[in-house]
Amino acid sequence: MDILVVGSGGREHAIVRKLKESPKVGKIYCAPGNGGISRDAECIPVAAMDVPGMVALAKEKKVGLVFVAPDDPLAAGMVDALEQEGIPAFGPRANAAVIEASKVFSKNLMKKYGIPTAGYEVFENPQEAADYIEKNDTYPVVIKADGLALGKGVLICGDLQEAKDALKEIMEDKVFGASGNRVVVEEFLTGPEVSVLAFTDGKCVKPMVSSKDHKRALDGDQGLNTGGMGTISPNPYYTKEMADLCMETIFLPTIQAMQQEGRPFKGCLYFGLMLTPNGPKVIEYNSRFGDPETQVVLPRLKTDFVDVLMAVVEERLEEQPVEWSDEACACVVMASGGYPGKYEKHIPIEGLDENGQVPGATVYHAGTVLENGTFFTNGGRVLGVTALGESVSRALEAAYCAVNKIHWKDVHYRKDIGR
Ligand code: AMP
Ligand code: GLY
Repeated sequence: MDILVVGSGGREHAIVRKLKESPKVGKIYCAPGNGGISRDAECIPVAAMDVPGMVALAKEKKVGLVFVAPDDPLAAGMVDALEQEGIPAFGPRANAAVIEASKVFSKNLMKKYGIPTAGYEVFENPQEAADYIEKNDTYPVVIKADGLALGKGVLICGDLQEAKDALKEIMEDKVFGASGNRVVVEEFLTGPEVSVLAFTDGKCVKPMVSSKDHKRALDGDQGLNTGGMGTISPNPYYTKEMADLCMETIFLPTIQAMQQEGRPFKGCLYFGLMLTPNGPKVIEYNSRFGDPETQVVLPRLKTDFVDVLMAVVEERLEEQPVEWSDEACACVVMASGGYPGKYEKHIPIEGLDENGQVPGATVYHAGTVLENGTFFTNGGRVLGVTALGESVSRALEAAYCAVNKIHWKDVHYRKDIGR
């Protein structure tokens, strides 16, 4: 079967690499892809948000499956459009992708079905939000833009002035555009964070192995929030007992809730959890594989990836085994100096071989271009250097050993992933 992967980051590179392991896969296309992905798949310059363009490409190449990886084409209905043309697609339809695309939707869903999450109120008017926060007088307080905001729409405010500034930024200055028409004002929770991705066909849910992201830019969890600076799997805080509790109180209730709402969720549902002193609670849902969670989860999948994907698409996940390796995995993101703020592009990367790899690790490319045999930086997050090992510390050792072989001007990475 030939397969088309939609997207262009490290997550998509990890997906392409995993597909390549399957004896059932013929040709792999990636649109638009990037320099590193072009060593593993045929990259085609169709933008990830170009729904008609992607449908036309899938038809032209006669692929047996389209894997829609990023959140925005899912929210824009790319899976619906593909299905209308009879093309099998992995990912939720737009009416289910809303679980990530609208925080107001997901919070109301959790309230209605008793799924544990932070207490909250929704506001359409910045003055009413500010009055509520002043009256409540509990800090820090969390303010979230309703819609998609590249992972930057969450502001944690230490006092009333910070909260007023955040409301102005989101609701009046509209720094996230229409995503800021409404906000969720939420209770601040504490505890370790866990990412759990789960395969689901709308009825059955099979969680993958757990992982831990490191969202802040600098060591010691300092600096700005980013898309993710590194991950480990498994997450040491996520015990078997915790997994059972999450299945009972969060995973199954969420899948059933979406079904009852007439929005069955098919694809990968990402549970962003916080293990609070009062039990596990949902911080956020994502309608897709995480980045860079995918980079440490998929290498541990032992079952043929295509078998699992097709079982989800054809709604027979219940009978499909999904097996995982006991090995641990670690990913260190190498980023452009300045990320997540302003950064320079098109800097040559030293230390990679002709396939964009180094010995002892797998290098997933997030933002590179390949020109005349040289890889150049082409984004904020550039590489995800990933290694397996018998323990998390061994995997980290191998990943950092590989990181030390790679260099470019102003490269930045965290030295404390997994620590
Ligand atoms: P999100 O984009 O929803 O994943 O939020 C980004 C980050 O903000 C999360 O990974 C958490 O670290 C933090 N966060 C979000 N909501 C809360 C909350 N209610 N309490 C404490 N931290 C939060
Ligand atoms: N790494 C967090 C995310 O993919 O949303």
